[in-house]
Amino acid sequence: MSGFPLPAGLDTPQLVVDRSRLEANIARLQGELGQRGVRLRPHAKTHKSVRIGRMQLDAGAAGLTVGTLGEAEVFVAGGIRDLFVAYPVWADGPKADRLRALHVNSDLRVGVDSVAGAERLGAAVRGTSRPLHVLVELDPGNHRTGVPAPEAAVAVAEACREAGLVVDGVFTHGGHSYRPGRPGGAALDEVVTLEAGAAALEAAGFEVSTISAGSTPTMTLAAEGRVNEIRAGTYVFGDRQQAVLGAMAWDTLAAVVAGTVVSAAADRIVIDAGAKALTKDRPEWLEGYGHLVAFPEAVIERLADYHGMLRVPPVSPRPRLGEVVAVVPNHICPVVDLVSTFTVVGPGGGVEYWPVDARGRSG
Ligand SMILES: Cc1ncc(COP(=O)(O)O)c(C=O)c1O
Repeated sequence: MSGFPLPAGLDTPQLVVDRSRLEANIARLQGELGQRGVRLRPHAKTHKSVRIGRMQLDAGAAGLTVGTLGEAEVFVAGGIRDLFVAYPVWADGPKADRLRALHVNSDLRVGVDSVAGAERLGAAVRGTSRPLHVLVELDPGNHRTGVPAPEAAVAVAEACREAGLVVDGVFTHGGHSYRPGRPGGAALDEVVTLEAGAAALEAAGFEVSTISAGSTPTMTLAAEGRVNEIRAGTYVFGDRQQAVLGAMAWDTLAAVVAGTVVSAAADRIVIDAGAKALTKDRPEWLEGYGHLVAFPEAVIERLADYHGMLRVPPVSPRPRLGEVVAVVPNHICPVVDLVSTFTVVGPGGGVEYWPVDARGRSG
């Protein structure tokens, strides 16, 4: 990574965003998908920020994706109404009441992957002035949520129709792309799975207007065939996983955790960015809990809540006591949820503080 300019006088740990790179990431993906005639509906769980959501919409995004009703509530309160909850919302008890209120106050669509889930969604919005629109989730091989086969998608869609919901189409999440060498295959899985699901729904008499794929590793690779919407989220900042997977170039990564070296011994250096700044997220194919931009051979090998313990090979350059270092986190999304504000550095070095509006809205 060519460097990450940190403003002087930072109080660490702090989540620092390079505004120029953030804007470039938004523009680049929007431009690439726009050229192919594919809509972008970015997943806002990565930034949880009304301001950044607006930047994406201003650049041409078709609306935002969210993962929870709590995130949807924050974006609706911030004036962003066109939202897709890409999650099989189980509309029971308080969730049913919240879903109904959101449906009345916004253009919300939700995901569904079961007959019982469809029945609950229908019951939650019964008696409102217009139907709730849904997308049926298919599993492209990620083995998280989503029905396993086109026939199951038809059964769910028929239950939706029965429950008074409008089925707009199908969606997948290619989360199995998160492994070196996998993005191409996972993207193909998404396209094939979505096309089969859409064809089955059409054969059963449904009008399929949305065929939505999405993850950052597959963000351009899955924009093929009949796929007409992409829901990447992480692309807005990027992280170490995306760089190692080859989904984003190192010098496009727009967010780092700044930490200060608070203790230094012969065999160990400690920074003040621990698990509560970096998270303990570490896929088995990455060594350590982040990448030190200026000290690429250093490994963050252990974390306590407020301590990050570094191992630096004896011959390699090492940060000195008191030095502020930039760390690219392994996975940016949960890191954002640990802070109340982004420290945003503009092209001229000026600093602004932007709120993480939907912080903690995990349900
Ligand atoms: C349903 C869904 N869509 C889209 C995304 C965005 O993927 P990424 O974080 O790889 O950009 C996610 C991420 O978890 C997701 O769960």
